[in-house]
Amino acid sequence: MIAAELEERVETRVQPTVAQETRFNGGVAPQVANHYAGILTSSELPENARILDLGCGFGRIAMALARRLGPDVAYTGLDPNADGIAWAQQNITPHYPNFRFRRIDVKSKPYNPDGTEDGARFRFPFDDASLDLVFMISVLTHVDLPTVETYLRETARVLTPSGRLVTTIFLLDTDVDQLLAAGRGHFALKYQNGESRVENPVNPELVIAHPRHRVLEIMDQAGFAKTVAVNGHWSGRPSAQPMDFQDLLIAGHDPETIIAPDGHSLLPAEAMTTEQVATYARIIALTGGDEARFSQFIRWSNALALNAFWWQCDGFRLCLQEAYPRSTGLSFEALHRLGLEKIRPNRCSARTAFHPLDDAAMIALLIRAGRISSRNILFDAFVEAAVNGLRVLDAINVGIAPVLNDADGGETAVEIPAWA
Ligand SMILES: C[S@@+](CC[C@H](N)C(=O)[O-])C[C@H]1O[C@@H](n2cnc3c(N)ncnc32)[C@H](O)[C@@H]1O
Repeated sequence: MIAAELEERVETRVQPTVAQETRFNGGVAPQVANHYAGILTSSELPENARILDLGCGFGRIAMALARRLGPDVAYTGLDPNADGIAWAQQNITPHYPNFRFRRIDVKSKPYNPDGTEDGARFRFPFDDASLDLVFMISVLTHVDLPTVETYLRETARVLTPSGRLVTTIFLLDTDVDQLLAAGRGHFALKYQNGESRVENPVNPELVIAHPRHRVLEIMDQAGFAKTVAVNGHWSGRPSAQPMDFQDLLIAGHDPETIIAPDGHSLLPAEAMTTEQVATYARIIALTGGDEARFSQFIRWSNALALNAFWWQCDGFRLCLQEAYPRSTGLSFEALHRLGLEKIRPNRCSARTAFHPLDDAAMIALLIRAGRISSRNILFDAFVEAAVNGLRVLDAINVGIAPVLNDADGGETAVEIPAWA
């Protein structure tokens, strides 16, 4: 595939800024919006479907959906963040007039600190049984359990008998507790907040996880006839798809219409995923398609990924998001699968220093890993490293200085060498 073809597959009709994507979603990842748009449209929708995107942000998912749905669909995006709504109204509605955005004044410490309404008392501005699809992507991960309860009850009220809810969430259960305690999760979630757990007790709405049994109980009481849950890999548990970071719930009143998005998320092992295509296209753009620069980026991202992974194994998280002080935003699933936590070169004295790795050291490591049983695992590790590398570059480009956070809240500045 040539670069132009690849770039065409990464759709760019309306382009948010990197700063905006980083502020709302922790980095540039159009493939994630496409992933969710695929799930949202994986069950048939009426041509004139009425859709609510609650907590729509600047319309990331709306843009991916608009390319898939016809002009008779009526989409409404609601969000408390004034900047996000203003951007969506100015940049999306002119292209897709059936996609409308409205601000709600619900209070959210990170997104709308002066809001006047409590989420737990918010009534969705729609009649009973009037919507075919309600979705909340990366929203219940930012609200307390009373608000989750209200939003699920309100969704059950406004959905038609054949309508569907699709929402992401972080769910706690005993397996997740063990993974988090072993440091395998993306978050530590050490602080209790009612029945839920949070990353940051001062700003609990930055990252919130809720007990699985309570959420399922609420859904049952709200009247959903069937709920399916798909595990994301945020907790360190494997997921069906690399893009399933958060857990996913799909529910409705008619059990027939509620199916797991397996058919959608399972790809033939040898196919390149949309994420891999998008990553490849961004590296081509970054390196101007120059072979030497391309290799340079791959070497740099591999060395960076290994260092970040070892720092994490030693209790230091490479942190890129000012708003999420305990989250790396990086993924190390493939490196775990390669068993590279146990195999390391002799590190330099400071555990928080960047350990340079030349080609010979890298090859020696891979040979010692010994567990490289299939080409796919190795390929996944390269893609994972490249995705991590692009995230670090995006963060640095919007002025975020990477730091290492330790379990006690300590912070150490870290010097990451330039890639070129
Ligand atoms: C991580 S962003 C996700 C935005 C969008 N759903 C997406 O996937 O691109 C979280 C969004 O939830 C919104 N939000 C936060 N608290 C909310 C609440 N109580 N009710 C509705 N939306 C809320 C924020 O304003 C923000 O736009």
